[in-house]
Amino acid sequence: GRRIVVTAGPTHEAIDPARFVGNRSSGKMGAAIAAAAQRRGAEVTLLLGPSSVPEPVGVTVVRVESAFDLQDALATAVKSADVIVMSAAVADYRPAKPAAQKLKRSELGQKTAIELVANPDLLAGLGKQRGAKKAPLLVGFAAETNDVIANAKKKLASKKCDLIVANDVSEAGAGFGVDTNRVTLVDAAGSIDLPAGPKTHVAHGIVDRVVALLEPEPKRRKR
Ligand code: CTP
Repeated sequence: GRRIVVTAGPTHEAIDPARFVGNRSSGKMGAAIAAAAQRRGAEVTLLLGPSSVPEPVGVTVVRVESAFDLQDALATAVKSADVIVMSAAVADYRPAKPAAQKLKRSELGQKTAIELVANPDLLAGLGKQRGAKKAPLLVGFAAETNDVIANAKKKLASKKCDLIVANDVSEAGAGFGVDTNRVTLVDAAGSIDLPAGPKTHVAHGIVDRVVALLEPEPKRRKR
């Protein structure tokens, strides 16, 4: 009965109608989290970037292309959410002036450059917006190649979220594109390594932690 919004996949930032700036995210981890939450009886909305991952059954899927599209879709989806899981690999920068027509090689010559401007940090925006209310529960990801836990702790604080799912994207069998993952869950209570395995299993481990954070163990009654 809980409402969960999951974002997944890369974003594509247009250079011109034919080309984009993007990243290696496949959307598999986010789609697996959406499917796992749906299996537990949640009402799930998946905001999915350009990805060929099969859309999970029983989940409301909203397709997005760019970081700005995702920001717009989030603004609507989060209104009634109990949990937001930001597994999308949102592009940090976008071309400053996307061309309306395809750029021609003959005009660009042997060397060219694309000016990029920063995209908004959507997760940090959600963390700020929710203020002291601490609702909805906010889960972020940290894609790292070094100092994974230290960097994840920094993101937990700077983006004001409740849980960070940290993964070393340079590790074989983890991170972008592959069907398996190995993640560490970092929250205010400390960090837990989940067993390495298929993203479908890792997703259930992440949802377990979300459930625990939503429903903290009842305090022991005083005798
Ligand atoms: N994120 C976001 N908006 C962005 C960039 C990232 O909402 N413009 C979110 C991602 O969905 C993820 C978290 O922030 O949940 C961390 O993303 P990550 O790529 O690991 O870190 P960045 O914030 O982009 O920082 P850096 O690339 O410097 O590590």
